Amino acid sequence: MAGFLDEIEPLKQTALAELKAAPDVALLEQTKGAWIGPNGKFTALMKQLGTLSKEEKPAAGKLINATKVELEAALASRREELELKAALPKEPTDFTLPGRRRALGKLHPLTQVTDDIVRAFRKIGFAVADGPEIEDEYHCFDALNTPADHPARDSQDTFYLNTTDKRLLRTHTSSVQIRVMEKQPPPVRIIVPGRVYRRDNADATHNPTFHQIEGLYVDKNVTVGDLKGTVEFVFRELMGSDVKIRFRPHYFSYTEPSYEIDFTNALVKKMGKDWLEIAGCGMVHPQVFENVGYDPEVWTGWAFGFGIERIAMLRYGINDIRLFYENDVRFLKQF
Ligand code: DAH
Repeated sequence: MAGFLDEIEPLKQTALAELKAAPDVALLEQTKGAWIGPNGKFTALMKQLGTLSKEEKPAAGKLINATKVELEAALASRREELELKAALPKEPTDFTLPGRRRALGKLHPLTQVTDDIVRAFRKIGFAVADGPEIEDEYHCFDALNTPADHPARDSQDTFYLNTTDKRLLRTHTSSVQIRVMEKQPPPVRIIVPGRVYRRDNADATHNPTFHQIEGLYVDKNVTVGDLKGTVEFVFRELMGSDVKIRFRPHYFSYTEPSYEIDFTNALVKKMGKDWLEIAGCGMVHPQVFENVGYDPEVWTGWAFGFGIERIAMLRYGINDIRLFYENDVRFLKQF
C-alpha cells in the first residue's frame, strides 16, 4: 500500500510538467492520452486500485481521484493557453499599414482634382490654408483694394446675409490671402482650396456655388517668372506634359500687373479651341501689403486664383457643371 501511494506523487509531477510543456494543442492531446487516456499511465494506476485491500482502498481512491481532477484542470488550462496563442498573429501587427480594402464608395471627382492640385503644390513647398465662408466686406473687398462702387460688391452679384454688419458669402478665396497675412509675418507660401458663392443663375457653366484654389507667395525678389514657372509646373503635373500656358494682361484690383492665364493641350484642341481661360493672377498690389502691415518696399509676391470645376471639366471632358452637384451615381461611378 505504501508503495502504491508513493508512486502517485512523482507520476503526477511528471504528468503536470509534460502537460505544461506541450507546445501545441495536437501534442497536448497526445500527452493527455499518454496519461489519462484508456491506455494512459495514470489510468493503469487506477486499474490497480482493485488489487488493494478493503482497508487500503478508500485512502488510495481519494488520492487518485484528487490527482485526476488536478491533471484535468492542468490540461484544460494549458489547452486554453495554447488556443489563445494560436489565435494571435504570427508577426507583430503594424497598425500604421493601410487597410486591405478601401471604404465603400469613391471620392467625388472634385475632391480628386483638389487632392491632385494640393499634392502638386505640396511638392514645391506650399502649405494649405483655410478661412471662413461667411466673410465681411473688409476681407472680401476693401483689404483687396476693391473700391466701394465695384460691381462685384453689388447685391445682384453677391449673397449678403441678413445682418446689420453686412456679412456675406465669400465671392472668392482671395479673402483668405488677407486673413493669412494678417496673422503671420512674411515669407508666405500657401494655397487655399475652398467653396465660394456668387449670385449666378445656374446654367451649363455657372452655379451659385463652386470651388476655387487661391495661391499666395510672398518673399523678397519674387518675380512674374516665378509665377509662370509655378503655374506651368502644377498644370503639367495635373494634366500631362503637353500642357502650354500663356499670360494675357488683365485687371484685378489686388494685383499689379495682373493677368489671365490661358491653357491649352491636346484636349483643348480637340474641343476646337486654341486656348481656354483658366485663372486670374498677378503681382500682389503694394496697397494690399500696406493693408496687412507688410512693407511693400521690402516684400514682393504673387497670387492667383482658379476654378476647380473648370479644371475638372477640362480633365474629364465634362460639359455641364451641374453634373457635379446632382450626385447621380451613374455620373459619379465613372471617376
Ligand atoms: N479672385 C479672382 C476671381 O475670383 C481670381 C484671382 C485673380 C485671384 C487674381 C487672385 C489673383 O489671387 O491675383 O476671379
